[in-house]
Amino acid sequence: MEFTGKRALVTGAAGGIGVEICRKLRAEGALVAVADRDTSSLQAEAHLPGDLLDGDYCDTLPSRAAEALGGLDIIINNAGVITRGTVSETSDADWALSMGVNVEAPFRICRAAIPLLAARGGGAIVNTASCWGGKAPGPNHALYCMTKAAIAQLTQCMGMDHAHQGIRVNAVCPNEVNTPMLRSGFEKRGFDPDTAVAELGKSVPLGRIAEPADIADVVLFLASDAARYMCGALVEVNGGKPVS
Ligand SMILES: NC(=O)c1ccc[n+]([C@@H]2O[C@H](COP(=O)([O-])OP(=O)(O)OC[C@H]3O[C@@H](n4cnc5c(N)ncnc54)[C@H](O)[C@@H]3O)[C@@H](O)[C@H]2O)c1
Repeated sequence: MEFTGKRALVTGAAGGIGVEICRKLRAEGALVAVADRDTSSLQAEAHLPGDLLDGDYCDTLPSRAAEALGGLDIIINNAGVITRGTVSETSDADWALSMGVNVEAPFRICRAAIPLLAARGGGAIVNTASCWGGKAPGPNHALYCMTKAAIAQLTQCMGMDHAHQGIRVNAVCPNEVNTPMLRSGFEKRGFDPDTAVAELGKSVPLGRIAEPADIADVVLFLASDAARYMCGALVEVNGGKPVS
């Protein structure tokens, strides 16, 4: 039980990848506080529903999780939103949403969590960037790629700046994952999600796009003591299909 006695906060806990992260953490013995707009369908030791666009909610999430769980060792900043389009197609509302959820929320949560982790002698933060923005951008998603580049860079900065406090900060950079985020994008564009996911799988050298568990396993690794010497790493999880 690698995470026995560990206390973890997971954002986006009700989403495709988030559900798997929480399920696996709890199966490995962690106590988990779940954060999402609606957490009522989730099994967890603490429920902290709310809107990540609310700065006060983000600022207080780590202390509320610590209070509910009796401490805090692990933060998983997994929540995210995707906006499609070029810069000229991007509205002010798209900007506020994407910057708010993908950049400002994890920034605020990390800022509030770092002193709590430091007071316990350290801990682990795992952010979610993307192949699109972690390492290189993809087409037609300018704002999304920019936000993921921002969280990737922030991860590298925090990885350097807080290692001396025993806090390891790393990010996972998935390529396409079979979750509501991807499937709803296909639906919006008039494609059948199952057919589109199968088609997309043909472009991946491993023969399929990722399932949420493929990403959750890497997140757990980065949060675990097995990754004890990793700080500021951007780990691409891509089935052999890098964005270049
Ligand atoms: N699915 C992919 O292909 C893919 C690829 C690369 C990176 N990612 C990243 O992985 C992470 C998880 O994505 P997913 O595919 O599981 O998506 P998802 O849409 O299934 O889950 C995202 C979760 O974040 C929550 N969330 C969004 N805005 C919120 C807000 N304002 N307040 C509270 N919660 C909010 C949603 O309610 C949802 O449960 C995201 O950061 C995403 O950018 C996904």
